[in-house]
Amino acid sequence: MRKTIPSLVVLLVAIASPLAAAPKNSCLTCHAELEGPQGEPAKKFPSDVHNQAGLGCADCHGGDPQDDSMTAMSPAKGFRGAPKKTAIPEFCGKCHSDSNYMRRFNPGLRTDQLSQYWTSVHGKRLRQGDAKVAACVDCHSVHDILAVTDTRAPVYPTNVATTCARCHADAAYMKGYNLPTNQPAQYAKSVHAHALAQGDTSAPTCSTCHGNHGAAPPGVSSVENVCGTCHVINQQLFEKSPHQAAFAKMGLPACVQCHSNHEIVPPTDAWVGVGSNATCIQCHAAGDKGYAAAQRIAGDLAKLETFYQRAEDVLNTAERSGMEVSTPRVELVSAHGDLIKARVEVHSFNPGEVQKFTDEGTDISQKAYQAGVVALRERDTRRKGLGVSLIFIVLAIGGLYLKIRQMESTPANRH
Ligand code: HEC
Ligand code: HEC
Ligand code: HEC
Ligand code: HEC
Ligand code: HEC
Ligand code: HEC
Ligand code: HEC
Ligand code: HEC
Ligand code: HEC
Repeated sequence: MRKTIPSLVVLLVAIASPLAAAPKNSCLTCHAELEGPQGEPAKKFPSDVHNQAGLGCADCHGGDPQDDSMTAMSPAKGFRGAPKKTAIPEFCGKCHSDSNYMRRFNPGLRTDQLSQYWTSVHGKRLRQGDAKVAACVDCHSVHDILAVTDTRAPVYPTNVATTCARCHADAAYMKGYNLPTNQPAQYAKSVHAHALAQGDTSAPTCSTCHGNHGAAPPGVSSVENVCGTCHVINQQLFEKSPHQAAFAKMGLPACVQCHSNHEIVPPTDAWVGVGSNATCIQCHAAGDKGYAAAQRIAGDLAKLETFYQRAEDVLNTAERSGMEVSTPRVELVSAHGDLIKARVEVHSFNPGEVQKFTDEGTDISQKAYQAGVVALRERDTRRKGLGVSLIFIVLAIGGLYLKIRQMESTPANRH
């Protein structure tokens, strides 16, 4: 009993002491006094996510943070120094691929960055000794690493393109690789970049399509197939279409063949058919079935578009003249819905399937048009009615005026 009380105190002190004060970090204290590259890390470190998690310099670099002298950095104390570029992934992966260790801090954090990284072109080339590719610190920075959800982080969705562009838009840096350096410029012009800039975080940036760390995003066999993860219906229709097998046989990509990969722009109806802007004439020529299908689909889309526009115009005119046309207007909205569905259905490349939507929409448009015409006719009738009453009123006023004149000129009024 006598012995256990002091040992209990020791135990309690041992438990409480780490909570009492921030752990000593001689590395930080000494490096903060240094100039240039040796001082930079200490100046940046307060904002680093690792500092916020309670880690210090020695957790990454080794050494003894209790020692105030240069011997803090003795290899005998586990000091590793700064890693060479080719050693950085293992250096960071020491913790980030250790799920037991990482769970203590954040059980929700993935621990596959390192294993994924080795599957990417960056990782494969780094393994071969190419130090120009991106390693962990090229995308995340170092000593001022931020949580990925921090809007200032270089890997935050709206900053990713700029981070990749540092190398991929730099023709001098990328010289020697047989790669174009136009991806960032092309992506900047895309519907995806515009949507993301407008705050639509469901739109992809570079790493959404290429994967954060691996060769492609999780669950996607190749970056070429990434489009279908978001554009699900287009993908399903394409897979059921005759192009699925035909493109595979020719070794062609699917979506990218018609839409490109980086400079994806909003398509128009002119892309279907046999006109100069049509995608179909890349491969189909007069006389083949694809060519005939293209003509038919384009014709049906144009018909719906024309009927829809005609209905919209007549309803607009009726509304401006104060006629009540809210019911046909609501109906016309579903014709527009059919137009949108027909454009998606183009990816079946089957005229019969597209026609189901264009017929329905054309029908609705025609009915809405008729309702508009009726409203305009009613307006004319009312206008005519108004005209007739106006004539009566004018005649009545005229008559009254004459009557008054007549009464004024009768002898009874003379004195
Ligand atoms: C008394 C001052 C002092 C202390 C304490 C100190 N350092 Fe240094 N450190 C230096 C100086 C000076 C240099 C540059 C000269 C050299 O390379 O020896 C340096 C260099 C480094 C480098 C770069 C080495 C390389 O490979 O390029 C790293 C990394 C580093 N220190 C980390 C640490 C860590 C981690 C600790 C704590 C465990 C620590 N330092 C403690 C002064 C200090
Ligand atoms: C999350 C891990 C990590 C932490 C924590 C960390 N470093 Fe580093 N440090 C690195 C890596 C990785 C490099 C190599 C960077 C490179 O090559 O671009 C590096 C490089 C350095 C260098 C060499 C700089 C140069 O340009 O030559 C010094 C000095 C250094 N660190 C000191 C520190 C000090 C001091 C601290 C604490 C204030 C610290 N580091 C905390 C990972 C870390
Ligand atoms: C080519 C750029 C790039 C490289 C190289 C890179 N990362 Fe990332 N990293 C990202 C992007 C982008 C994200 C995701 C940000 C988001 O979710 O919005 C990310 C996310 C993370 C996360 C948060 C958890 C997660 O997986 O989403 C960790 C941790 C991380 N990276 C560590 C590493 C480590 C360790 C390495 C080196 C083995 C590394 N990264 C290499 C770009 C990169
Ligand atoms: C000593 C272990 C260790 C090392 C080495 C290490 N990290 Fe970390 N890292 C952590 C811990 C712990 C966290 C905090 C996890 C949390 O609280 O979310 C973290 C967080 C991160 C995050 C933020 C993840 C998020 O939640 O958004 C990124 C990014 C990251 N580290 C990248 C790196 C990079 C790059 C390197 C190499 C330069 C590296 N780490 C080296 C332990 C380490
Ligand atoms: C530090 C410079 C650097 C950064 C930053 C960088 N890369 Fe790279 N990347 C390279 C180099 C160098 C290659 C190797 C070219 C090769 O061998 O094909 C490469 C290769 C690639 C490839 C393979 C190209 C191919 O088909 O061969 C893709 C895809 C890629 N990077 C995407 C990205 C994305 C996405 C980002 C940003 C999240 C990024 N890179 C950031 C330097 C960088
Ligand atoms: C909408 C998805 C998507 C986005 C966003 C995207 N890419 Fe790509 N990227 C692709 C596809 C698909 C390929 C073609 C792959 C193939 O042919 O094997 C490709 C190819 C590449 C290549 C190989 C060389 C080339 O041009 O064919 C590089 C490098 C590259 N992308 C980098 C980037 C960078 C950097 C960004 C951001 C500025 C980016 N990508 C944004 C889908 C995308
Ligand atoms: C991460 C999800 C995602 C991925 C991956 C993706 N997109 Fe998109 N895409 C969007 C979003 C979000 C929009 C913007 C929708 C809008 O507001 O028009 C969009 C818009 C488009 C548009 C314009 C649609 C229109 O009506 O104007 C086309 C075409 C397109 N994407 C094709 C592709 C292709 C091709 C790929 C693959 C190379 C791809 N997308 C990959 C989410 C994605
Ligand atoms: C053979 C050429 C071709 C292929 C392959 C193709 N598309 Fe399209 N895509 C078109 C045409 C043509 C339009 C325009 C339809 C219109 O506006 O009348 C279009 C329109 C779109 C639109 C905008 C309309 C909508 O659906 O909202 C998206 C998004 C789209 N495509 C995504 C994809 C995706 C994802 C793939 C791959 C699964 C793909 N496309 C494959 C030709 C193609
Ligand atoms: C990259 C080349 C390519 C493009 C672009 C393309 N096709 Fe095709 N298409 C083919 C090939 C190859 C086949 C299968 C061989 C064949 O029957 O001609 C095919 C088959 C078809 C078929 C089935 C024909 C049959 O025999 O039953 C239709 C329908 C079709 N395409 C319509 C279209 C339409 C509509 C467009 C434009 C929106 C288009 N294609 C764009 C290459 C293409």
